[in-house]
Amino acid sequence: MTETYLTQPIDEESVRAVSDAGLRMTLVDTADVAAFDEWIRADFRGFLGEHPKPEALAEARGYLGDRRTTAVYDDAIPSAASPIGTVNSWVAPLTVPGGGTVPGWAISSVTVAPTHRRHGVATALLGGELRAAKAIGVPVAILTVSESVIYGRWGFGPATFASEWRVDTKRVRWAGPPTGGHLSFTDPASYRESGYRVLDRVMAGRAGEIAMTPYLADRLLGPLKGNPDEDKYRLVRYDSPAGEPEGFVSYVVKGDDDFVKHTVEINYLAAATDEALTALWRFLLELDLVSEVHIMTRGVDEPLPFLVSDVRGAHLASVEDHLWVRILDLPAALTARTYERDGEIVLDVTDTLGLAGGRYRLSVSGGTARVEETTDAPDVTLPVSSLGSVYLGHDAARGLAIAGKIEGDTDALDRLFRTAVPPRLSTWF
Ligand SMILES: CC(C)(COP(=O)(O)OP(=O)(O)OC[C@H]1O[C@@H](n2cnc3c(N)ncnc32)[C@H](O)[C@@H]1OP(=O)(O)O)[C@@H](O)C(=O)NCCC(=O)NCCS
Repeated sequence: MTETYLTQPIDEESVRAVSDAGLRMTLVDTADVAAFDEWIRADFRGFLGEHPKPEALAEARGYLGDRRTTAVYDDAIPSAASPIGTVNSWVAPLTVPGGGTVPGWAISSVTVAPTHRRHGVATALLGGELRAAKAIGVPVAILTVSESVIYGRWGFGPATFASEWRVDTKRVRWAGPPTGGHLSFTDPASYRESGYRVLDRVMAGRAGEIAMTPYLADRLLGPLKGNPDEDKYRLVRYDSPAGEPEGFVSYVVKGDDDFVKHTVEINYLAAATDEALTALWRFLLELDLVSEVHIMTRGVDEPLPFLVSDVRGAHLASVEDHLWVRILDLPAALTARTYERDGEIVLDVTDTLGLAGGRYRLSVSGGTARVEETTDAPDVTLPVSSLGSVYLGHDAARGLAIAGKIEGDTDALDRLFRTAVPPRLSTWF
């Protein structure tokens, strides 16, 4: 499965859909430097990025060449070699409740040129991705989104939420436990191997996180080529008292007119243990010449308020949807995770794309699920997007029921699916 995503042919239904509009959809040979560079340029443009310099193109080619890469071309325009639509994908292990993983069809780089927007190109790209994933038996599709209004129509539901914090470090004092271990400055090149090990533990440790690739991991350790703050990055590692790498923080310090009031913009804080988390937070909150620490994409259970002397000094700036999940194979997805309570429920799942709908009995015994098709009356009826939203254990069922997006015995569904520790995705992909 993890290799066949590259060889699975392009989805003919999508090829036909765009060709009716005079466009051509094809897989891109990422070994073809000229074609791949055009694709990368179109991707940068789609996300309002700069014109990538040669070193940024080379870096992107090196990192992204093993993704399934799709382009849509308009052969009728003078710049026909430049795609007007892009998407790429790969199969990423997604951590699920209980600590296991489910193969996730990770979708990224969805762009349509503003010259060709709202003519159904993204619809063709997304449909193609979902059908290709389904064809090779990947149970769920996953993505992070630029705008939350886009993906519900294709059966995705928000499954993890991310918090953003601004800490007034002149206002708070450390109120967490004593911290130990060793902190030291390092750099991405010499720390890479240890950093990867730390990230593997972080990603395996929480439902909602995905397995790293070198591209995803290196972005967390330091800046990629062309990052405007490239020269200002700092990397601090935490090693346990026994010398085991257990965490790191990469960050940039931004200046202010007042030299004692800099802002620390955290790129990523990785903590494989609570000791690493508290030591790194304490380090950040006690930095001299700094008045604010800003961090994004933390979990909804980030313990910051409890680590400071003044709860309101750690300001929760926002909570937003982050990982979106689209169930493609209900029995495979639901049996991949474990459950914290036993029980039984009949789910009637509707899916307008016809990929994962049906009526199933979910029986949980000893935390392990069995799923079988049934014709019995349903306890709960819900669209596949709502199932995606509760799949990883997030506390979404009651809200969805109030919104009319889950009908029936919502409490029974909630009791089965929700987990004590909320799911989290702490990075973008
Ligand atoms: C988002 C994007 C890929 C959509 O491409 P597109 O080809 O215009 O999308 P489609 O024509 O297939 O639109 C399908 C439907 O989604 C809606 N839609 C698409 N993008 C939308 C957006 N940004 N906001 C609201 N609705 C949107 C369309 O109105 C259409 O709705 P309908 O089916 O009810 O008519 C494109 O606008 C884009 O590249 N945006 C900038 C990059 C980006 O944000 N990408 C998403 C990364 S997660």
